[in-house]
Amino acid sequence: MPKNNYKSKIIAATFVLLTLAVIGGIVTMIIFYNNQISTMNPTPRPTFPPTTAAPPPSMRLPRNLIPESYEIFLQPHLYSRIIEEVNVTSPNQTTLFTGNSTVHFKCVQRTRSIYLHSVDLVVSNSVVKNKDTDERIHSTVKYPKGSGEFLEVQLNEALEAGGNYSLFLAFKGEISESLYALYVSSYIEGVPDYEGDTNAQRFLAATNMEPTAARAVFPCFDEPEMKAVFHLTVIHRQGTTALGNAERCGSSFIDDEWQYTRFHPTPRMSTYLFAFTVSEFTATPCPHNRVDIKIFARPEATAAGHAQYAASITGKILDFYGDRFGIDYSQRKLDQIALPDLSPAAMENWGLVTYQEGVLLYEEGVTSTLAKERIASIIAHELAHQWFGNLVTMKWWNEIWLNEGFATYMTYIAVDAIEPSFKAKDTCVANNLLTAFEEDALASSHPLSPPEQDVQENYEIFQLFDGIVYSKGAVVLRMLADVLHEEVFNKGINMYLWHFRYNNTDEQNLWDYLQKAVDADGGHINVAKVMDPWTNQIGYPVITINTTNGEIYQKHFLFNDSSESSNWWYVPIRVMSKTTVPSLAWLDSSDKVKKGEFISKNGEWILANVDCTGYYRVNYNLKNWESLLTQLETDPERIPLLNRGQLIDDAFNLARAKLVDVTLALNLTRFLRNDTEYLPWRSAVRNLEYFVHMFDRSEVYGPMQAYLRQQVSGLYNFFRNYTDNSTVPVDHSLQKNQIIAIGMACSSGLPECVTMAREMFSKWMNNNINMIHSNLRSTIYCQAVAHGGRREWEFAWKKYQTSVDTSEKDQLLLALSCTKEIWLLNRYLEYTLNPEKIRLMDTDTAIQYVAGNVAGQTLAWNFIRANWLYVSRGSSVSLILAVTRRFSTQFELDELQRFVTDIDLPSARVEQATEQIRVNIQWVRENKDTILEWFEGEAGW
Ligand SMILES: *[C@@H]1O[C@H](CO)[C@@H](O)[C@H](O)[C@H]1NC(C)=O
Ligand SMILES: *[C@@H]1O[C@H](CO)[C@@H](O)[C@H](O)[C@H]1NC(C)=O
Ligand SMILES: *[C@@H]1O[C@H](CO)[C@@H](O)[C@H](O)[C@H]1NC(C)=O
Ligand SMILES: *[C@@H]1O[C@H](CO)[C@@H](O)[C@H](O)[C@H]1NC(C)=O
Ligand SMILES: *[C@@H]1O[C@H](CO)[C@@H](O)[C@H](O)[C@H]1NC(C)=O
Ligand SMILES: [Zn+2]
Repeated sequence: MPKNNYKSKIIAATFVLLTLAVIGGIVTMIIFYNNQISTMNPTPRPTFPPTTAAPPPSMRLPRNLIPESYEIFLQPHLYSRIIEEVNVTSPNQTTLFTGNSTVHFKCVQRTRSIYLHSVDLVVSNSVVKNKDTDERIHSTVKYPKGSGEFLEVQLNEALEAGGNYSLFLAFKGEISESLYALYVSSYIEGVPDYEGDTNAQRFLAATNMEPTAARAVFPCFDEPEMKAVFHLTVIHRQGTTALGNAERCGSSFIDDEWQYTRFHPTPRMSTYLFAFTVSEFTATPCPHNRVDIKIFARPEATAAGHAQYAASITGKILDFYGDRFGIDYSQRKLDQIALPDLSPAAMENWGLVTYQEGVLLYEEGVTSTLAKERIASIIAHELAHQWFGNLVTMKWWNEIWLNEGFATYMTYIAVDAIEPSFKAKDTCVANNLLTAFEEDALASSHPLSPPEQDVQENYEIFQLFDGIVYSKGAVVLRMLADVLHEEVFNKGINMYLWHFRYNNTDEQNLWDYLQKAVDADGGHINVAKVMDPWTNQIGYPVITINTTNGEIYQKHFLFNDSSESSNWWYVPIRVMSKTTVPSLAWLDSSDKVKKGEFISKNGEWILANVDCTGYYRVNYNLKNWESLLTQLETDPERIPLLNRGQLIDDAFNLARAKLVDVTLALNLTRFLRNDTEYLPWRSAVRNLEYFVHMFDRSEVYGPMQAYLRQQVSGLYNFFRNYTDNSTVPVDHSLQKNQIIAIGMACSSGLPECVTMAREMFSKWMNNNINMIHSNLRSTIYCQAVAHGGRREWEFAWKKYQTSVDTSEKDQLLLALSCTKEIWLLNRYLEYTLNPEKIRLMDTDTAIQYVAGNVAGQTLAWNFIRANWLYVSRGSSVSLILAVTRRFSTQFELDELQRFVTDIDLPSARVEQATEQIRVNIQWVRENKDTILEWFEGEAGW
C-alpha cells in the first residue's frame, strides 16, 4: 500500500510538471497513505512488554490465544441509490452496519480474559464455547480503561492451555465518511437531468484496513502476525454485488430487499488484508488460463472500455511474478476494483485489490501515456504484494519495508518485462534513489527497520509508510541483488517465499535464506553482516575519492554538517574509467584506504557507482570532477545514462551539504543545453526546483529565470514541431522530456511557449473541442491558467466539476492551482473544505498544489492553520511538510514552531520539517550571493 509521504500526489508543481512526479515518481506518488486516524490524542505508551499475558494498556495483544479462523457476517444498511418519486417519501440514507463474528482460537497459556481489538463498535452478546467439550462458558464484555482499542471478555472459568475455543460477538457500527475502515463512496451515474438531481447519485461501501482499521469493522486479533482464515458472508441490498477476498461460493435472496453472498474461506492471512465491497459496479474480464481475473468499475467506465488496459496487463504481470518467484498466485480469483474514493492510491487486499480510479482506468486519447505508465506500475506494485505482504508478511509493522521495499523493487522488474518501451528500470531506479537520498539525508531520518518498541502506537505505524520504507527499501534490495548476482538473489528469495508462505518473517529470516543461496553458490558474502548497517542505522555514506593517489574513504552524508555521526557501511563500489570496464571494490571500514582502481591514468576520469547500483553518493577531487564535466560537454554518451543524472544530483546535494562549491553543481547543468535525454534533465529539474523554492521570492529569481529560459530553449525547439501540432514523439522517454521542456520553458517565461499554451487552451474554450494531446494537457492547462485570468480559471473549474473522466479531473485539479490571482487561489482553497466540490481524497493534493505555487504559498500556510481541524483529517504531517517547503528564514521557522505548539502536535512529528528549514536558512545565507553572481554571469544579466 501507499505511503504517508509529504510528497503527495505531485509536488513538482514548480515547473508545473504534473507529470514529473507522476512519471517516475511512481513511488512518490503511489504511495500515499492518508492517515485518517486522529493522531492528536495518542493512546498511552505501553507499559508491558508485548509477550506477557498482561492486559492492556499494553499496546499489543497478549500471546496466550492464537486465532485460527473467523466466521463473519456483515450487513451494510446503505442504499446504493435513493430514487425520489413524487408520491413516495424516499428512504433516508443510512450509514449503519450490523454484523456478528465467531472467532475460533487455541489457548496456549491459561487465562480468564480474552483480549481483542475493537474500536468504534457497539458490541453485545458474547458467547464463549469450549469446542473440545461443547460447553458454554459464562462471559461478560468489558472495555479496559485507558485503552481505546481493546475489549476484554471476562470469563467465569479459565481457558486452559491446549484447549480449543470460540467466541461469538454481535456488533454494530457506522460506515465511515472519511475513507477509513468500512466507508462510503459515491459517484454520479450518467448525465444528471438537472443540477442537484439526486436520482443520479450512487453509493457504494468499500473497506480500507491497513494498518489497523479491521478492528473498526469487527472485533479481532488485529496484528499482522495473528493470521487466520476468514469465512465471510455479506448481507446486501438486491441490485448490488458484493466482492470479498475469496471467490463467491453462493448467493441467495433473504426477502424482497436483501440477499446473502457467501465467500469461500480465504487463505491464512493477516487482518489488515481483509476487504469487501458492495456496489453496482460491473466487470471487465481478463483472459487467464488459471485465475479468474476481473476489473470492476462504474458501469459507465466499464461500458466505455476504460478497464481494458488494466485487463490486458494484469494476467501478464501475475504470470511474470509466478515464474519469477516459483510460486503461482495462490487464489483462484483476483478482483481489482476502481473506487471513486480511496486513500491511499491503491491497496493490495488479497484477491480484492482496490485502486483510485485514476490509477486503474485508462482512456485512450484522454489519459496521458505517463499516467498509463503509472497504471502499469501501481498494478505491478500491488500484485507484487500478493507474494510480499500477503503470502509472506512481516511479523510486526517496524519491518514493513519487507512488504513495501520488495513491492517497489519488483515493480520495475515487472513493468520492464511487460512494457519494455517504458524503460522502467532506469526511471524507477532514478526516482527511488532521488527520493531515498533526499529523505535519508536528515539526522531526523529513521532506519529501514526501526526497533520494534519505537513502532507501537497507530501514529507511529502510519508514519512509517514513507520514502525510506519504499524507496530506500527498493534501492537497498537492488544493491544486494547486484552484489549477490541476480540468479543467486532470486534463488534465495524463492526459498524464502516458499518456506514462509502463509506465515510471518523478520529481516533475519530474509538474510538467512539469501545466505543459503549464497552458500549453495559457493559465495563468501556474509549477508546479514553486510546488510545490517544499511537497514539498522539511518542514512547512507558519501564516498570521497582522490583520483590522484587512489585514496578513498566514507562518511555519513548529512545535509546538516553540524550533526555528528560515526556510522559506516559495507560499501560495494562498481568503478570504471574512460578506458576500463567496471570492476567491483569493497570499502569495509571507516578508515582511509588506497586502492589502485581509483587512480586516474593519464589524466582520465574515474567514475564510481557505475549504473548507480549502490545506495551512496560519490565525491571526487576537483580535477576528476572537471574531467567528468568535460566528458559530459563533449560526448555525454560515454557516461552511463543513470550516472549522467546522478552526477548532477550528487553535485547539487554535495553542495547542499557544503562538501563541494555550489558553482560546481551549477556548472554541471551547462551540458544540458545539448542533451535531450530525459534522466539528466529530470535530475537537474528536481534539483533546480530546490533553488526555485529558496529564491523565487528574492532578487535571484530574475537571473535564475533568465538562465533556465536560456538552457531550455534548445530542448523546447527540439520538440517544437511536435508541440505546435499537438503531437508527441514515439519514444517514451522523449515523450517525458517533451513535457519537461514545455513545463520549464513556459514557467521560465519563454514567450513562444506561453503563446502556444494560451492559444491551445483558448481554442478549447472557444470551440469546446479539446485538441490538446493527452500527454500535454496537464502542463498546458496549468500554463494557460497561470498566464490567463478569471476566464481561464472559471472554464477549468466548470470542466472540473462536470467532467466524469478521472484523468481529466486530475489534470484540472493541478491547473486550478496554477493561477497567479490571489483571490482565485483563495477561492480554490475554500472549495477544498467542501467535499461536494473537491473529494476528500483530493483535498490534500489541492492544498499542496496551491502551496507549490509561489503566489499561493502564504495563502496555503494561513489556510491550513485556520482550518486545521478539517484539513488534518488527512495526512497532517505531510501537509505541514509540503506547505513549509519554501521556508528558509528564522521568522518562518518560529511561525511553524508556534503553530505546532498551538495545535499540540508532538514536535517529534515535524522534526523533519524543522531540520530541513534550519538547513535551508543556513544554506541560503551562505550561498545566496555566489548563486546570484553565477546566474547573472551565465545569463548575461
Ligand atoms: C407513484 O407514482 C408512480 C408513477 O406515477 C407509480 O408508478 C407508482 O406506483 C406510485 N407509487 C405508489 C406507492 O403509489
Ligand atoms: C427521513 O428523515 C426525516 C427527518 O428525520 C423524517 O421526517 C422522515 O420520516 C424519514 N423518512 C423515512 C422514509 O424514514
Ligand atoms: C449472525 O448474523 C446473521 C446475519 O444477520 C444471522 O443470520 C445469524 O443468525 C447471526 N448469528 C447468530 C449466532 O446470531
Ligand atoms: C510459521 O513459522 C513458525 C516459525 O518458523 C513455525 O513455528 C510455524 O509452524 C509456522 N506456521 C505455519 C502455519 O506454517
Ligand atoms: C589528493 O592526493 C594528492 C596526492 O597525494 C594530494 O596532493 C591532494 O591534496 C589530494 N587531494 C585532496 C582533495 O585530498
Ligand atoms: Zn505497497
